[in-house]
Amino acid sequence: MVNLDWKNLPFGYIKTNYNVRCYYRNGAWGELEISSSEYINMHMAATCLHYGQEAFEGLKAYRGKDGKVRVFRVEENAKRMAGTAKYIRMAEPPVDLFIKAVETVVHLNKEFVPPYESGATLYIRPLLIGTGAQVGVNPADEFLLIMFVTPVGPYYKKGFTPIDVVIERETDRAAPLGTGHIKVGGNYAASLPAQDKAHALGFSVSLYLDAREKKYIDEAGTANFFAIKDNTYITPKSHSILPSITNLSLIQLAEHIGLKVERRKIAVEELATFEEAGACGTAAVISPIAKVVDIENNITYQLCKDNEPGPISVKLYEQLVGIQYGNIPDPFGWVTIIE
Ligand code: PLP
Ligand code: COI
Repeated sequence: MVNLDWKNLPFGYIKTNYNVRCYYRNGAWGELEISSSEYINMHMAATCLHYGQEAFEGLKAYRGKDGKVRVFRVEENAKRMAGTAKYIRMAEPPVDLFIKAVETVVHLNKEFVPPYESGATLYIRPLLIGTGAQVGVNPADEFLLIMFVTPVGPYYKKGFTPIDVVIERETDRAAPLGTGHIKVGGNYAASLPAQDKAHALGFSVSLYLDAREKKYIDEAGTANFFAIKDNTYITPKSHSILPSITNLSLIQLAEHIGLKVERRKIAVEELATFEEAGACGTAAVISPIAKVVDIENNITYQLCKDNEPGPISVKLYEQLVGIQYGNIPDPFGWVTIIE
């Protein structure tokens, strides 16, 4: 293993040995290539630069107590990237190609997979861009799928300690029938003003409401929202949120541990009735929410007692992370061991 300060890694970029690339040209995907360059050489009229033909993904590799390296639900990420590609008219990377690329890039950078119990993981960033030149608004005819990895610490500095969240009403990350349900860079550009504001006010993250009515909870800029009430796992149903693979997994785990599950519209005022709440995602894992502040209406919703994560959030967290690290059985076949 390389020598890094594993316990204090930020969620940031660290150079590793290799990335992998695959080009789509003349209507077909080529061979997977291995590169040690951190740079891309491309045409200045590439569609990713002008018209946002860009899709990305995020997943992680975990080093277990047994020394084995596991990746979590890679097939789901592959399918989601294909869905994003299709929507913005890019060539869809076949699921098999995506999985092979993930396995290859993790294998080649195995020494960067953080040690067990360091709290760090290897973040895998698949990226698909339109590289073909266009000046009119049209899809490219050439694409590049690239995957790099970087060892990361927790996304929200507090890790599994509860975070404070602020409701965002001045901006939207996605339009009601826009691109919130797919993983395109533009959604994240649109989230930067709200993030700036949240940070300036001392919050970890902002919580978006539905863009049409501003009545219902959508999600955070980088994670889905869930809440617990009356032995029920409740999470928003909305066209403008990203279908989080972590959330999908928590829904299954919640059912597995005997909770009911509701996927429905969640009115903001309902926050007052929740026993627990959290933000969930690959980068966020589960970040329990201590409080949600609604500045415009001068309301603070307390969602933690004594700033401690609630018992059901703890249980879900232990199940999820237990499967990811191989500490408990994986009844759903979610992990792939990287040889
Ligand atoms: N919502 C948004 C906007 C995200 O960027 C992410 C991160 O990928 C998530 C939710 C969580 O999704 P996942 O659990 O698939 O990582
Ligand atoms: C992830 O959880 O993988 C994300 O995409 C969040 C953020 C780093 C964009």
